Amino acid sequence: MPEPVSFQAPKGTFDVLAPASTRYEQLIATFAAVVERAGYGLLISPMFEDVAVFHRVGEATDVVRKEMYDFHDKGDPPRHLALRPEGTASVVRAWVEHRPTLPFKAWYAAPSFRYEAPQAGRYRQHHQLGVEALGTEDPDLDVEVIGLLDGFYRAIGLTGVALRINSLGDAVCRPGYRALLAAYLAERADQLCDEHRERYRDNPLRVLDCKRPACLAATAGAPFQADHLCEACAAHFRRVRDGLATVGVAYRLDPRLVRGLDYYTRTTFEFAATALASAQNAVGGGGRYDGLAEALGGPPTPGIGFGCGIERVLLACEAEGVELAGSPGVAVFVVDTTGGTAALELTVALRAAGVSADRAWDGRSFKAQFKAADRSGARVALVVGDDELARGVVAVKPLRGGGPQTEVARSAVIEHVRTIL
Ligand code: HAM
Repeated sequence: MPEPVSFQAPKGTFDVLAPASTRYEQLIATFAAVVERAGYGLLISPMFEDVAVFHRVGEATDVVRKEMYDFHDKGDPPRHLALRPEGTASVVRAWVEHRPTLPFKAWYAAPSFRYEAPQAGRYRQHHQLGVEALGTEDPDLDVEVIGLLDGFYRAIGLTGVALRINSLGDAVCRPGYRALLAAYLAERADQLCDEHRERYRDNPLRVLDCKRPACLAATAGAPFQADHLCEACAAHFRRVRDGLATVGVAYRLDPRLVRGLDYYTRTTFEFAATALASAQNAVGGGGRYDGLAEALGGPPTPGIGFGCGIERVLLACEAEGVELAGSPGVAVFVVDTTGGTAALELTVALRAAGVSADRAWDGRSFKAQFKAADRSGARVALVVGDDELARGVVAVKPLRGGGPQTEVARSAVIEHVRTIL
């Protein structure tokens, strides 16, 4: 026998046990209802992919350069794989592989893995709710996608979320703008933060997103993409803004919103929870990625989507005092002191009739079983002792909200319970 040791979940990860996990269930169910109403279908993809799939997310991004959990499998030769750091690349890879008809609208609820410095709201395994829609450049789709995330926050009762949007241009206007920004930064390289002084050439746009005072000061007069869009991108962005106004989604223009992944083109957006500290207040974000399908070996196919971190949303709900009505546990608890099969039979019959039910084990005392009944959160206890068994009845005792104890014939008890719950 190996020495007994005590294990813990790996750093930056956590277990979610009931009842806390019911909040996850609730968020996923609400999200599914919101997006399925708009024609999005659930997509389940592998938790790991060929590492090259994620390289298409952007070789110069932190997510790929520093944070990816990559490994070699036991194949001969071994394959270089990586745990999914985000959902979009997998969904687009799946679309390219299977080519379902366009427009293709998919949603997912999936764990994502990033080797980050763990802190509140930043984990090495987090869980994203997301949608991806492929097949059209229509700006109305941008409005639909942003509106869905906005609608999700509303559906769960979160009110303190602020939307920022930007346009990052496309293959026509981005290269010129990028050169303009790089020239601006080159003149001020010595004023940038330590990291960007070296790295601004790899990805000048990231400097605009840097929160360090040095970069903020150095980029105060920087050119912004939104002022250097080509006519097609400018028209697209205008239509998105008009559309958001039409459907009543409030937003603020943020020319610094470049986001942390390189596949974005045109519209980008992010929702921040006003109740959370600014470093981890992004409760969801996304944008267009009109070149990603092609980069993953498919035909040119525009796309847009978002990812929304469940843990961040839960933190925002807590900070705002939003109660997520979690599942209350079971409805009925069966207390059986006969030592026979009453508990077994009743719980099975209740569950078959659609009533959630639990029981105690190991022939515990009446008192211990009632304690367990209380802890279970059940609203009603069904009690069978020797006396009830002999008379063919079940005692029905309300556990929540008071009321008298009653007695019901064993044959009628399931129907009775359904009427009182
Ligand atoms: P992202 O902004 O990197 O975008 O992540 C989406 C959301 O996941 C964030 O807004 C945040 O709520 C949550 N999140 C990210 N990293 C962590 C972490 N380490 N711990 C906890 N929560 C985290 C994407 O991943 C894109 N795939 C979104 C997208 C979809 N763009 C287009 N389609």
